[in-house]
Amino acid sequence: MKSKFITFEGSEGCGKSTQSEMLYRYLKSKGLKVVYLREPGGVKLSEKIRDILLDPDSKISPEAETLLYMAARAQVVEEIIKPAFCSGRIVVCDRFLDSTIAYQGFGLGIDVKLIKFIGNFATQGISPDLTIFLDLPVKSGLQHRHNCKDRIEQRSVSYHEKVRKGYFALAKKEPRRIKIVKVQENRFKTQDKIREIVNAF
Ligand code: TMP
Repeated sequence: MKSKFITFEGSEGCGKSTQSEMLYRYLKSKGLKVVYLREPGGVKLSEKIRDILLDPDSKISPEAETLLYMAARAQVVEEIIKPAFCSGRIVVCDRFLDSTIAYQGFGLGIDVKLIKFIGNFATQGISPDLTIFLDLPVKSGLQHRHNCKDRIEQRSVSYHEKVRKGYFALAKKEPRRIKIVKVQENRFKTQDKIREIVNAF
């Protein structure tokens, strides 16, 4: 079977991790060979970089932040994603390059063309076949995170609004790849919608 790369995107508190994990378990229950990971993370180096990136005490410039996300990605591509593709597996990934475009590009103002250029290097040209963008109004998402916010969650509501707008701009540009799913009150209903899209795909 030809491998497939499915990513999940969305702003804070949208339930991405829950939904992507539910999809992973569903695909596995169908007897498919699936690899599941999160970004930044998934392998030792990338998890270490994640800790630095999310630590509220880290002082990181927008440029360094962009490159650290890319470095974490480069390692997980080399160690997990590329080998998974070579053995024909489905890869389900919680976030990927679109996150850098939304958070560092639209959110922090780093040039999107430059992000795509460096992104192509970091990912060795690997890009998702299907992306589920889970959409939830910013304030509802941030409500779920009122205690111990990480360095990125601590940013202003207007920053997170820019990120959300960024995702909509990406989805508008690539409607065949990026599917917008409105987050429902009931997580099983959201998952049903996701499975509908994935099954059709
Ligand atoms: P998570 O909370 O979804 O696990 O992601 C970690 C945080 O990192 C989240 O606030 C989004 C942010 N992020 C970026 O800013 N740029 C990126 O490229 C990625 C992958 C995540």
